[in-house]
Amino acid sequence: MIAVAIDGPAGAGKSSIARKTAKEIEFIYVDTGALYRAVGLHMLNCGIVPEDQQAVSAELAHVDISLEFKDGDQRVLLCGQDVTDLIRTSDVSRASSQVSAIPEVRAFLLALQTKLAEKNHVIMDGRDIGTVVLPNAQVKVFLTATPQERARRRMQQIEEKGQKADFDTILREIQERDYRDTHREIAPLIPAADAVVIDTTNLTMQQASDMLKQLIVKQIDSDKNSH
Ligand code: DC
Repeated sequence: MIAVAIDGPAGAGKSSIARKTAKEIEFIYVDTGALYRAVGLHMLNCGIVPEDQQAVSAELAHVDISLEFKDGDQRVLLCGQDVTDLIRTSDVSRASSQVSAIPEVRAFLLALQTKLAEKNHVIMDGRDIGTVVLPNAQVKVFLTATPQERARRRMQQIEEKGQKADFDTILREIQERDYRDTHREIAPLIPAADAVVIDTTNLTMQQASDMLKQLIVKQIDSDKNSH
């Protein structure tokens, strides 16, 4: 199986680039952030403070998360209910980042992620894919962009949905999440030593996706030649 690990901060373009590339090369695209979001949503629904390590850990026994793939698109099921569209709010973003710092939550979600990569060719994105989840991934990419550019893109996405957005609020939320994701003790967001770093600040989605595809095709060709 071929595994492609993509890590990077919120809004660097990971999911759009990974989804597009996965469709083109017929790999499954696994968005691991959605798993942390589902845990965050569950805690909010139960009235549990997402930073309360003890309460969150105790509640995990009642959390049942699974992923389904329909026409290549990932759906997230939380206790049997499709929550794919409910996990994109800023409250859930914050809660997911908070629960993701809890070691029990990371251990709880790890097996689900590794199993998917055992059975499928995957492009998996997240924060610790190249470092912890799939340390033997054949291709590792760290996608990044300046916080200002990432906030600009988020704002555009929100406005495209006909909703209002405030640039400074989005920028602040991104910076808070970056800080939490990079400073936590367990599996912090850092590029794997063998990751290719791609800064997408001045790249179009197409350009970044072409770069990723080139790296994957090169890897597939070298695998073929060595067998
Ligand atoms: O990729 P995302 O923005 O949907 O992720 C939501 C949060 O989940 C993010 O702030 C950090 C956490 N996360 C993580 O800790 N490890 C991952 N592999 C993916 C996400």
